Amino acid sequence: MSNAKSTSSSLHRKDAGWSGRFAEPVAEFVLRYTASVNFDQRLALADIAGSLAHAAMLAKVGVLGADDLAAIERGLAQIRGEIERGEFAWQLALEDVHLNIERRLTELAGDAGKRLHTGRSRNDQVATDVRLWLRTEVDNLLILLAELQSALVGQAERHADTVMPGFTHLQVAQPVTFGHHMLAYVEMFERDRERLTDARRRINRLPLGAAALAGTTFPIDRAFVAAQLGFEGLCQNSLDAVSDRDFAIEFCAAAALVMTHISRLSEELVLWMSPRFGFIRLPDRFTTGSSIMPQKKNPDVPELARGKSGRVTGHLMSLLMLMKGQPLAYNKDNQEDKEPLFDTVDTLRDTLRAFIEMVPGIEVEPAAMRAAAEEGFATATDLADYLVRRGLPFRDAHEAVARVVRLAQERGCELAALPLADLQRFAPQVEEDVAHVLGVEGSVAARHHVGGTAPKQVLQQVAAWQARLAPR
Ligand code: ARG
Repeated sequence: MSNAKSTSSSLHRKDAGWSGRFAEPVAEFVLRYTASVNFDQRLALADIAGSLAHAAMLAKVGVLGADDLAAIERGLAQIRGEIERGEFAWQLALEDVHLNIERRLTELAGDAGKRLHTGRSRNDQVATDVRLWLRTEVDNLLILLAELQSALVGQAERHADTVMPGFTHLQVAQPVTFGHHMLAYVEMFERDRERLTDARRRINRLPLGAAALAGTTFPIDRAFVAAQLGFEGLCQNSLDAVSDRDFAIEFCAAAALVMTHISRLSEELVLWMSPRFGFIRLPDRFTTGSSIMPQKKNPDVPELARGKSGRVTGHLMSLLMLMKGQPLAYNKDNQEDKEPLFDTVDTLRDTLRAFIEMVPGIEVEPAAMRAAAEEGFATATDLADYLVRRGLPFRDAHEAVARVVRLAQERGCELAALPLADLQRFAPQVEEDVAHVLGVEGSVAARHHVGGTAPKQVLQQVAAWQARLAPR
């Protein structure tokens, strides 16, 4: 959308609808400082939808004549076309999206245009617009999140039995499967979807009718407007309706969590791509070279996503700080909700799109993962569990295995490479069948219960997710 030009130094113009009271035009810098049209234009289609519903309601209750309603509907349809074609002449002097559209409507529809604002204020208008706009964005984000989950499930299916080291404290802990690791993120993004879905319920309530702050003297039908616009309920208190932005804050909190999850995944991708790990390769189109070091392939997309998670969390903080000092009801402070909110949506959407593209392209190096899982005595717990099954108390088994690990360390070999006789020195209960326990495949396969890393479990989870995420 084009930026608005200031066509007049006067904000106190008749077109703005409230010039009569002022003795001199607003200072140029005040106009620039207070105008929001450069960014709130993106609410235009929501604003038109809200106005259409409001006008229809006014006509229904007899406040607006049928001819006026028709003129308003015609005018708003034309304005929508002008905006969609990029032909609409936004004017900074008209401050915001609402006054720009109303002014144009009055040009097109005359007095009918001037009647539209009956029983309404920009305060309930803007709250309605933001909610309408955000509701649509949430719906889009929910679809993108499901697509990202599907991409991760695809990797999980391909790598249900690809063994990698699982880490705690970033130290090799126990073998897991790469599929299981991918499904951990599917779970995180599922909770993110739940949070967004839940936040949507509170976004989807109608403020219109609150007017400036106290309601209106006209016999309005708010339920009608809500039904027209698909709102699930009405804000029940006019002061609250025009002033709180908690719905936007909640959304940003949910968005910050999504970005936090993406940031964790990003950090792992960056680590795994490092030659020190060598667990994965990213398609070239998601990496960049260095201007000086010819050997470099940098994971820019995950790095940027990790960085942008800070930016989105910052927006959440901005909105919280914006709200905390405001007395009831509406204050102009609230105009500052838009840029953080819009940027949160843009950043999240773009990041999700990048990951939806990138995740299926992750190329796994099973040999490197396996080798890493076999280093670091990752099956030590399995050996302890084995001894427990042969009657040793777990703490004693733990101690015996610690000695075995120390011996392997001294010899510079893996647990599986120790001769049976050496194992029996520390734990006489050990028999031939221990080999299965010390291998990484046996280790992951043994964790065969809901939530465990066994390939069979992973495949069951994959099937469940595929059914759940299938487009309906
Ligand atoms: N542009 C304003 C905003 O974003 C619209 C509401 C202005 N209301 C007012 N009384 N000045 O919040």
